[in-house]
Amino acid sequence: MSDVKQTPGQETEVSRRRFLTLVVHGGWLTAMGVLVYQIGRFLGAEGLESGPSPLVAAGTLADFPPETTTYVPEARAWVHHEAETLTALDAVCPHLGCLVQQKEGGGGFRCPCHGSEFGVEGELERGPAERPLRQLDIQTQADETVTIRTS
Ligand code: FES
Repeated sequence: MSDVKQTPGQETEVSRRRFLTLVVHGGWLTAMGVLVYQIGRFLGAEGLESGPSPLVAAGTLADFPPETTTYVPEARAWVHHEAETLTALDAVCPHLGCLVQQKEGGGGFRCPCHGSEFGVEGELERGPAERPLRQLDIQTQADETVTIRTS
């Protein structure tokens, strides 16, 4: 037990000081947590990413009839089925990240934001984008399910 007597006013002072100390320490801990998280993101730590799984179930082979191009929203990808081969293109425009749309008549893709255009295989035809659409890994399993790896 403490031998120091406190008047009611001193109790309030100590309690206020303690409260402010807790607030300051809590602020520092929060700031350090945010700093560590941001450094982890900057360095590309996988465990800190909270995005969707990079392997997306896109449906079955029957969902992609031959000679068609189909948008798969779960993967944000365009899937083209030609000559018994499936190919997938990332629908995210490499300029600033809008989703590209298929051109009228199906002859490639156009970004609605700033007008970049891409060919049927994702090749850059017109800027301001400086890179083609990204090819994605697409696989058909033995049971005809189709998966797309988005990263
Ligand atoms: S985001 Fe596609 S052209 Fe700018």
